[in-house]
Amino acid sequence: MPPTFDNRKIMVIYVLGGPGAGKGTQCGRLVEDFGFCHLSAGDLLRAEQNREGSNYGDLIRTCIREGNIVPMEVTVKLLQNAMEATLKEGRPGDGWANGKGRFLVDGFPRKMDQALKFDEEVCLASMVVFFQTTEEVMLKRLLKRGETSGREDDNVESIKKRFHTYKDQTMPVIHYYAKQGKVAEIDSTASVEVVHKEASTLVKKLFAAQGTPA
Ligand code: C5P
Ligand code: MG
Repeated sequence: MPPTFDNRKIMVIYVLGGPGAGKGTQCGRLVEDFGFCHLSAGDLLRAEQNREGSNYGDLIRTCIREGNIVPMEVTVKLLQNAMEATLKEGRPGDGWANGKGRFLVDGFPRKMDQALKFDEEVCLASMVVFFQTTEEVMLKRLLKRGETSGREDDNVESIKKRFHTYKDQTMPVIHYYAKQGKVAEIDSTASVEVVHKEASTLVKKLFAAQGTPA
């Protein structure tokens, strides 16, 4: 079976980086620039966790608090459903005309099994944008965010576990796509503005390479 979405019409960019590297913030800016639909795997999981009648609420809550990866079937299905719903609804702009669409898939794939399943069954990604900074910077940002986020995993104990999972499970995903020449790395230590400029330039290059008007 071919993937659900044809990657000649549907552009998927994976956005990776450690917790607190700036993925969500930068995705928000790229949405403004290029009219992407921004799908954060973590946000989708938190919404599912809180959805009345969900069978996965407890499972997701425990995984998130412990910094573990939720079983991939759950996350891949949530992403696929969200993509289908967005395409059905439609969006303004050339990027969404004639069955086309463009998605930033944020915080995914965090583990090899997610990567293989999504590429094979949902859609092949065009590129991986990899935001890279130090644990020190990430820790500082996450603790700051924790003052207001209400997230159960923005505390030192969970953050340590999330760093471990990131090195153990997510770095191999980044290496896997790097071997395919799909990874563009950005140092996200700098200010939101500076990082955004770099990210925006990268995406423009990708559009140009694909012959797509931005
Ligand atoms: O990306 P974010 O920090 O919002 O993710 C929060 C948590 O959601 C992760 O620590 C992990 O428990 C879960 N998650 C996952 N698989 C993903 C993305 C997030 O299991 N692809
Ligand atoms: Mg996020």
